[in-house]
Amino acid sequence: MTITELAGRVALGVAGMSFEPRDRAADLATIRAGIDAGTAILDTARAYTRIDVPSYGEELAAEAARGTSAIVGTKGGHSRIGPTTWDADISERRIRSDVETSLRVFGRLDLYYLHRVDLAEQPVEEGVGTLAALREEGKLARIGLSNVSVVELERAAAVARIDAVQNHHTAMGRESADVLEWCEANGVAFFAYSPLRSSAPAPHLADAAKARGVSVQRLQLRALLASSPVLSVVSGATRPETVLDSLAAESEPWDEALAAAYTADQPT
Ligand SMILES: NC(=O)c1ccc[n+]([C@@H]2O[C@H](COP(=O)([O-])OP(=O)(O)OC[C@H]3O[C@@H](n4cnc5c(N)ncnc54)[C@H](OP(=O)(O)O)[C@@H]3O)[C@@H](O)[C@H]2O)c1
Repeated sequence: MTITELAGRVALGVAGMSFEPRDRAADLATIRAGIDAGTAILDTARAYTRIDVPSYGEELAAEAARGTSAIVGTKGGHSRIGPTTWDADISERRIRSDVETSLRVFGRLDLYYLHRVDLAEQPVEEGVGTLAALREEGKLARIGLSNVSVVELERAAAVARIDAVQNHHTAMGRESADVLEWCEANGVAFFAYSPLRSSAPAPHLADAAKARGVSVQRLQLRALLASSPVLSVVSGATRPETVLDSLAAESEPWDEALAAAYTADQPT
């Protein structure tokens, strides 16, 4: 089964719940509300953690998913080392160590990404070769790459089958258009992270949202889903209302009028 068939097209990221002290019970209830409504995959990482609680984000996702059918995608090779600092290391030693740590949290790893291919000093071949060996050893099921370029993807794909890519991409900015195109050509799932973090305005979609009585955020997510069959979004909503609203993007009807509004909003 492909990761998209397993995960659906709206993932829920827990980064926004992981870096600072928050109401953990409320966050668990929020994530559970999403899972009850159809969220099939949670997105977390070794790096999503409070400075005083190692693995906070992974443990939060593991606890929320326990006893449900939701799976979790997590990431290694990037850790919080100070209040505002993170490292990046995709050496074999580090990735093996990170995978073992994540495995202890989750019991199984359905999708494991190299988090910061762009910042690590080591060549992508070293990190992806290590994940391929770990997949052979039965430690993880699928390999993902995050913050990656087309050139790095070509090099990585020469080493091992890549199941998923996760890059920043928004409806208005289309920041990773070339990587998305590569994923389409190679049948690889593309997860658009921070899909609402674009400073570009969307006046026509905003008018359409008002006319339909839905949020413009839902329509921006819907526009992304309509833009490619291999694309899923990773929503960072932190309240039950926004979690459910983002999830509803998947079933929001998409028609010519919306497509025209979206086209009219594209920067020239
Ligand atoms: N791979 C990477 O390097 C990387 C980097 C960054 C993020 N990520 C992943 O992407 C996830 C999302 O990133 P993000 O939080 O930066 O981006 P985001 O989903 O684009 O933005 C989150 C913000 O949008 C608001 N929002 C979400 N859905 C909404 C809706 N339907 N209506 C109104 N407001 C809505 C949220 O508000 P509320 O908080 O009020 O709900 C929050 O302020 C992260 O949790 C993480 O899993 C990955």
